[in-house]
Amino acid sequence: MDVYGLIGSPVEHSLSPPMHEAAYEARSLDARYVTLEPDPDRIGEAVAGADAIGVAGLNVTVPFKQDVLPHVEPTATAEAVGAVNTITFGGDGAPEGHNTDVAGVVRAFEHHDVSIDGQSAVVVGAGGAGRAATYALADAGADTFVANRTVERAEELAADFSALGVDAGGLGALAERVPEADILVNATSVGMDAPDTSPVPADVLHGDLAVLDAVYSPLRTKLLRDAADAGAETVDGAWMLLYQGVAAFERWTGVDAPVAAMNEALRGRL
Ligand code: ATR
Repeated sequence: MDVYGLIGSPVEHSLSPPMHEAAYEARSLDARYVTLEPDPDRIGEAVAGADAIGVAGLNVTVPFKQDVLPHVEPTATAEAVGAVNTITFGGDGAPEGHNTDVAGVVRAFEHHDVSIDGQSAVVVGAGGAGRAATYALADAGADTFVANRTVERAEELAADFSALGVDAGGLGALAERVPEADILVNATSVGMDAPDTSPVPADVLHGDLAVLDAVYSPLRTKLLRDAADAGAETVDGAWMLLYQGVAAFERWTGVDAPVAAMNEALRGRL
């Protein structure tokens, strides 16, 4: 039996175990997926130990996505984003560190037939989720602007991705940027467990936008309700969660992911 795991803190309410175990069942794989909370001071040992005992693969979540970087061989994407959420073992050298949050954003839009290349995108939020979303969109060819409450953080992010031509500003810039944009992503925590708050004023949304909200609790955030009222295409946060898991599953097993089964397992719990 193959054992996969998620390291993070907290992890007890993670939706990854049911999503991945639904995939193992649908593909008749003899595998389990467990959640683990390692000692924050021993992350390197945790990764090496998982490798040594034959763990088949690890997901990594908050607060360890940056901490694992020195203990893996990161892909170019993981290195650029500065975070790893998926580790593969079994090669000759160090464990490989991937960032499937980037694929999660791209494939969530693909699923909704939203093209990214050549489009104009606005990302709200410059934390970990904002970095992944900004990199995903800019790398896929969108002209990308990142807006953040703390402007300096957005500017740092844009400087890190200067080769991709990312621009930055404060939340005040949304009034000017969103009306011109094709794609909008909320990568802040605004709206999480707060069904009446949105990071973007409703009056700047419009019918030519595709809006992805990384928040998935609730699934229908105020931002997505406002976006739907404005006639925009809406993509809820479960799609991003689903497709980062799909990309991790495919990376680990080399098997096409049973996307519908994983989606059903996920949405059944949201
Ligand atoms: P994550 O890794 O999930 O992105 P994070 O690094 O804590 O988490 O980032 C949270 C994001 O939500 C940041 O962009 C944060 O803005 P600041 O950088 O200014 O803190 C944003 N955020 C959180 N609460 C917010 C609020 N009430 N209004 C606007 N932005 C908020």
